[in-house]
Amino acid sequence: MATPAPYIQLKKLEVAYNDYVSGLRGVSLDVNRGEFIFLCGQTGSGKSTIIKVLSCQVKPTKGDAVIDGRSLASVTPEEVPMLRRKIGIVPQDFGLLPNKKVWENVGYAMRAVGRSKHEVRDEVPAILERVNILHRADAYPTELSGGEQQRVAIARALINNPPLLLADEPTGNLDPGHSDEIINILLDLNSQGTTIVVATHDIMQVERANQRVIQLAGGMIDKGDHDEELLQHMHEDPLEFPTES
Ligand SMILES: Nc1ncnc2c1ncn2[C@@H]1O[C@H](COP(=O)(O)OP(=O)(O)OP(=O)(O)O)[C@@H](O)[C@H]1O
Ligand SMILES: [Mg+2]
Repeated sequence: MATPAPYIQLKKLEVAYNDYVSGLRGVSLDVNRGEFIFLCGQTGSGKSTIIKVLSCQVKPTKGDAVIDGRSLASVTPEEVPMLRRKIGIVPQDFGLLPNKKVWENVGYAMRAVGRSKHEVRDEVPAILERVNILHRADAYPTELSGGEQQRVAIARALINNPPLLLADEPTGNLDPGHSDEIINILLDLNSQGTTIVVATHDIMQVERANQRVIQLAGGMIDKGDHDEELLQHMHEDPLEFPTES
């Protein structure tokens, strides 16, 4: 039996934001359906750029990103809304409407993709329940903690029951307890079959979740060779600590 093609493929993906700034400098990566991956790396290493390419906010400059067989380098603006329907996006800043209640935030997102008022009434409670925020359905975003707002942002990303969820720094400003809750929700969605890509600085959560980690450095995948090289070098040529004699 032939092995199925990877769900996401980055093929020597390059993103140049302008003549001087590169977001990605040749990243190749396969992600299988149902995988959970963390994108890690220092500020400016290219984590958000990968999320933005996968969510069609930024186009590849060279190389390609393919989701479920569809090349994103050749996507036309007209095709973007259709593609986005299969992708849940949780932006770093939540992007909630401040003057709408929790359930309305999710409801408006559903209406924006053409769902009926009927469907909103029927489906919103279950979506809020999935991320454990149904009890605050009537609250406004400003009345919620950061972790609760994050859960509403995830709820909104789930409206089309997307097979792929992209989250940029979902535990960015949360304390460890609330970070645990958010990652547990993502792990739970993953165990139900959703493929998940998370960009994060949160090493504690990465270690706790025990999922695949892609380490980025300077817009490329860092395979850790430098450390090994350095260790090897140190082994061969140990530094001597200057001591006074
Ligand atoms: N809109 C933009 N215009 C110009 N340069 C950009 C833009 N967005 C990102 N960059 C640059 O691309 C590089 C990668 O940025 P990216 O946002 O992907 O990093 P990151 O790993 O998400 O960083 P952080 O951890 O700070 O969120 C950085 O050098 C950044 O300055
Ligand atoms: Mg980022």
